[in-house]
Amino acid sequence: MYDLVIYNGLIVTTSHISPVDTWIGITGDKIVTIQSGKPPKDVGKRYIDAKGGYITPGGIDTHVHLQQLQVAPGEDTGDTFESGTRSATAGGTTTIIAFANQQRHDESLYPLVEEYHRRAAANGTWCDYGFHMILTNPTKKILDEELPVLFEKEGISSIKVYMTYEARRVGDRDMLEIMLRTRKLGMTLMIHAENDDMVQLVIDHLKENDLTEPHHHAIARTPLAEVEATNRAICLSNLVSSPILIVHVSSSAAMSRIRTAQNDLQPIFAETCPQYLLMLAEAMQPSGHGCGCSHGTEKTENKSFEGAKLICSPPLRESKDDLDAVWKGMINGTVTTFSSDHCPSAFDHPMGKKKGLQGGKADFTKVPNGLPGVETRLPLLMTYGVERQRISVQRFVEVTSTQPAHLYGLQHRKGAIAVGMDADIVIWYPPGEVKHDITNDNLHHSIDYTPFEGFEVSNWPRDNGGLVGRAGLGTYVKRIKGTVGHESRGETHLERITRMARA
Ligand code: URP
Ligand code: ZN
Ligand code: ZN
Ligand code: ZN
Repeated sequence: MYDLVIYNGLIVTTSHISPVDTWIGITGDKIVTIQSGKPPKDVGKRYIDAKGGYITPGGIDTHVHLQQLQVAPGEDTGDTFESGTRSATAGGTTTIIAFANQQRHDESLYPLVEEYHRRAAANGTWCDYGFHMILTNPTKKILDEELPVLFEKEGISSIKVYMTYEARRVGDRDMLEIMLRTRKLGMTLMIHAENDDMVQLVIDHLKENDLTEPHHHAIARTPLAEVEATNRAICLSNLVSSPILIVHVSSSAAMSRIRTAQNDLQPIFAETCPQYLLMLAEAMQPSGHGCGCSHGTEKTENKSFEGAKLICSPPLRESKDDLDAVWKGMINGTVTTFSSDHCPSAFDHPMGKKKGLQGGKADFTKVPNGLPGVETRLPLLMTYGVERQRISVQRFVEVTSTQPAHLYGLQHRKGAIAVGMDADIVIWYPPGEVKHDITNDNLHHSIDYTPFEGFEVSNWPRDNGGLVGRAGLGTYVKRIKGTVGHESRGETHLERITRMARA
């Protein structure tokens, strides 16, 4: 007798859509059988009729910031592990990977990992979770002694590094040292690629000209800064033949550079997020307000500050060409994985977005970066990707679940509907049954806005109104070595040039 039988749906994998008369038997938290035909009446304790809708593997969101320590104490990112995973679950995401971040002064990563375990355990999580490590001070001790232990004992098989933000950026030599270790250990290396000096120069010029309202954020973080850093990361990776993943790719130039590297068979992978497919920087401008504006009355400034809700890095882009190029990357396979980069701050909170409005004067450089989006990621891609016929439903499964699983070492448990896998399953409504506008009142995070307010969606993981489950059901997932990019490629370019110099 199975605990649960799901039937009458279209089971989707990256390669296949099963006919509706296929059913899934689940016992405990595992898929134990998949059979064709109608399920017998007496094999399940509980039955769910999928009513002809798609059945997809649970979403895996590998870019989520929850209760993340910031440089200034007391300014942790907005959602807790409890509220963030509640929101994830309501949007069809059954596994998240959140960041545990090193601050410059931290000499050991172990206490940090402990701290994040405490944070996650405090109120429990609704879905499964793991941790990436953010490195800001990659000492030899951390690289050579601690990373192997964290991989082996904690199942932390991925690292993120920043090329931007004064408090977080690492230099090129440090990046190379990290790449050598991640290659050796088989860890996945995520890179936030924006040239910080280029961004800071533009910010200084904008400030000198008193151009500090939220929408100027998009101008400050120019696509040139993204493509320069992307190109540099790719060149560094070439030298040491180390696979890398450029996260939250937002521009045509960066996407093209990555595509070229992939065409050259370099192990370069890309992530993008809903905001770079669906929104342009003009959404940050108060209506009727153009750049080169007159910064006017208190009333105007406050109205124009609404744009702060959309401040994230990389920023929303100004040109539709960028948006089209990101869609192209989704369609042609340049994009390996689709995440939310859920990194929320409340809007109406002194430590949230309104930090950038202290004293009544807008200053985009003081607004915490990042958007909420863990709950809306899958419905938005199902609507604007699959149902608007830009991508197939198999490609949807690939970028939201299967490839994230393989990239980050979850492939032994997650990312597919198959016997032996975790029973992480999303049932969608049959086409045509859902049509509503996203509104923050219907979301389950603890943030006071959604950047996608008013976006129409034509599907949602069932049942939107009836979130089932509870905090405490999710467990920590130890990850293994991923399978993407870690195929052995023999000697590295560095080894080759050294050997030739010796000869
Ligand atoms: O704007 C964003 N995404 N900020 C969060 C930190 C990051 O870069 O992921
Ligand atoms: Zn980032
Ligand atoms: Zn302006
Ligand atoms: Zn992020």
